[in-house]
Amino acid sequence: MNESKVIDETKQGEALMVEKPENSNGKKLFLESYGCAMNFSDSEIVASILKDKGFETTKDFFEADVIFVNTCAIREGAEQRVRQRLNEYKKAKKTNPDLIVGVLGCMAERLKSKFLEEEKLVDIVVGPDAYRSLPELIEIAETGQKAVNVLLSKEETYADIAPVRLGSNGVTAFISITRGCDNMCAFCVVPFTRGRERSRDPETIVQEANDLFNQGYREVTLLGQNVDSYLWTGGGLKKENPTEDELKNATTFAQLLEKVALVNPNLRVRFSTSHPKDMTDDVLYTIAKHENICNYIHLPVQSGNSRILEMMNRGYTREWYLSRIESIRKIIPDCAISMDIITGFCSETEEEHQDTLSLMEQVKYDFGYMFAYSERPKTLAERKYKDDVPADIKSRRLAEIVDLQLKHSAERTKQGLGKVHRVLVEGVSKKSKEQLFGRNSQSLVVVFPKENYKPGDYVNVLAEECTGATLIGKVV
Ligand code: 5AD
Ligand code: SF4
Repeated sequence: MNESKVIDETKQGEALMVEKPENSNGKKLFLESYGCAMNFSDSEIVASILKDKGFETTKDFFEADVIFVNTCAIREGAEQRVRQRLNEYKKAKKTNPDLIVGVLGCMAERLKSKFLEEEKLVDIVVGPDAYRSLPELIEIAETGQKAVNVLLSKEETYADIAPVRLGSNGVTAFISITRGCDNMCAFCVVPFTRGRERSRDPETIVQEANDLFNQGYREVTLLGQNVDSYLWTGGGLKKENPTEDELKNATTFAQLLEKVALVNPNLRVRFSTSHPKDMTDDVLYTIAKHENICNYIHLPVQSGNSRILEMMNRGYTREWYLSRIESIRKIIPDCAISMDIITGFCSETEEEHQDTLSLMEQVKYDFGYMFAYSERPKTLAERKYKDDVPADIKSRRLAEIVDLQLKHSAERTKQGLGKVHRVLVEGVSKKSKEQLFGRNSQSLVVVFPKENYKPGDYVNVLAEECTGATLIGKVV
């Protein structure tokens, strides 16, 4: 066991489909996405760029002229999954020698042209900041040459590209607000694969939220590696020492949240990911002030021990983290909180592992994403520390963390019983066609009889029963 989550994630490894373009060029694209929500959101940009050029999408890679896989590099396991997938594409290349295979995203950026040596079937390698060049890269590959563009940018935010919504339920959508990351956590490959942090023009973000609302969407999730460090001062890299004038005219994350919340009271606003060292009370007050900003914060802790946090270069201690939790509880009393935890980081002792468990007991998270430490090339940890916690110990510690989280999630879910929840309907329940499902403000899944309700409706559901992570009830 290397990773585990007690929460839903975007579907992985499923063909992403786009409506047939009006200017079809007769070529078919098979597109799939691995990794985080940010990657999925990037795939929507890629789909938009290629739809403009007339590409149709297909669910069957044997039928494709071009296969694009948007990859993740966060843990070794994520990379292995991509390599297995490439092996499957080999069968398609056998029946169609003209097939073009392209790797996009974080693993492409990490390996660069080495990818071409390691995986002979790959024709195109493209990093996350170079998607505008995809049409030209395809043209090069069509002449039988290999094509690589892994340039990272200080400006690119794709702000002017309207994403094509993929695999959408027509109700919830992602909006990217920042790209890259300046944090340099010791374990993390992201600063190397996604480059320096850039914020996107708030006007384009509000415009996108507005367009989505007008198309019938009722929930947007603002995405960034560290949303709290969002700062718009007119474009490009974040200013190290902004002048007073620049700060006066700047837009902070709290201000951005408010702008998006004001698009319409019936548009729910979520955001991910928050960073404990940067999350201000301003943000918390903004959440408390607006009914339509959901009471849910994903606040990765990574470890409950201050020595390990220091080695991880997280920029906070256990005490600081717990004080942020206290602020959340005070300012937004019914806020759900989730975490990411990495277990078995370099030199982590049994006692330090116990500190993580005790912190979990203190916070009692609603959900969690939990991982065994996986050493990544070039990171600070790889260069400075030894990955010395044996795999079986990592697995055992992870299992303990997951068990505790399952217990806490179940307790939190139970607390919702007997209460009325405002639910935004997202679709038909997986278990029964007669039931619909949606989420409450705290992001907990709620299931109820369908009657005449439909996706996009808001309903008030009285929770009567529950499973570990789902409330079941009836509309009142
Ligand atoms: N090993 C294990 N987990 C990692 N994460 C990031 N890098 C690593 C790594 N090298 C986890 C962190 C982060 C989440 C997105 O993935 O918990 O918050
Ligand atoms: Fe997303 Fe990080 Fe994976 Fe890149 S490496 S896809 S940013 S989770």
